[in-house]
Amino acid sequence: MKSTPHPIQYQGSKRNLAHVILRYIPQNVDCLIEPFAGSAAITIAAAARQIAKNYLINDLNRPLAELLRLIVEFPVDTASFYEKVWNEQHGDSVEHYNRVRAEFNRTQDPRLFLYLLARCVKGSVRYNADGMFNQSPDKRRHGTLPHTMRTNIYGVSALLKNKTEFSSLDFREVLVKARKNDLVYMDPPYQGVCGERDARYFSGINHEEFVTALVELNRREISYIVSYDGRRGDKTFGVLLPDSLELTRVELDAGRSSQATLLGRDEVTYESLYLSPTLTAKLTHKPTDYHQPKMQQYALLEPLTEYA
Ligand SMILES: C[S@@+](CC[C@H](N)C(=O)[O-])C[C@H]1O[C@@H](n2cnc3c(N)ncnc32)[C@H](O)[C@@H]1O
Repeated sequence: MKSTPHPIQYQGSKRNLAHVILRYIPQNVDCLIEPFAGSAAITIAAAARQIAKNYLINDLNRPLAELLRLIVEFPVDTASFYEKVWNEQHGDSVEHYNRVRAEFNRTQDPRLFLYLLARCVKGSVRYNADGMFNQSPDKRRHGTLPHTMRTNIYGVSALLKNKTEFSSLDFREVLVKARKNDLVYMDPPYQGVCGERDARYFSGINHEEFVTALVELNRREISYIVSYDGRRGDKTFGVLLPDSLELTRVELDAGRSSQATLLGRDEVTYESLYLSPTLTAKLTHKPTDYHQPKMQQYALLEPLTEYA
């Protein structure tokens, strides 16, 4: 199979685990809903396998959700704009990046965001207390080549055009739209302390409020999957979701962490996936943990930086 297209570099992207997560999604879903879409890695991978008839991409970060819409609905213009901005970075590329960043903070133009994400350190968004994007450029790279970016943009557009709705709402406003034949995949931001802003993403979420939203989804018998906590070796990251939700929890082997390997430790990162009771009842097989085939283990950088 041709590789899945990915125009947006995004820290915490589920791109490398998407093929594993899709194992827990039944075929013939009406609408696959991603309330915390980020780079929409799961939606793109699901569309490549024709898992759902329609898709809903939402992220509270408006320029990000809008960028995904432009990629899907206006691929030619979006790719050309990227090429133009990318080509302007000859000479002092750091100075060029800083100029683009200032213009993005002033205008919130999503097309500028695409260049910043391609050029910034590890595709990791960072915001200051005023909500201004303040991540630095990666001085060793110039960002995805325009030709490669164009191929990725056209690929995503071909997969999602005319079957995708976009929004930039709080996740709870999206959950009310879910119907019984839909599947909601949720990958909320790192669980910060209640009320604290998370500089890693545009916004954090509150654990109790999230659990309350899941209780309501259970009551409405909605099928959903949540990526939430994880562990590396014996060290766990984040609070587990409560037993009272009656979710099925499986662990996904995300590979050996390159950081631990560098330090001479041999530790695998595991990410938890929680399946709703309605979804578990629909699956023809009992959901079990996922272990990578021995020869194919790869190092994932994202979970490390996200949970570190
Ligand atoms: C861990 S990232 C999702 C990464 C995604 N799974 C991917 O593959 O790229 C979490 C996302 O949730 C978004 N977010 C934060 N608070 C939100 C809220 N209250 N409602 C909707 N989205 C929110 C952030 O902007 C961020 O893009």
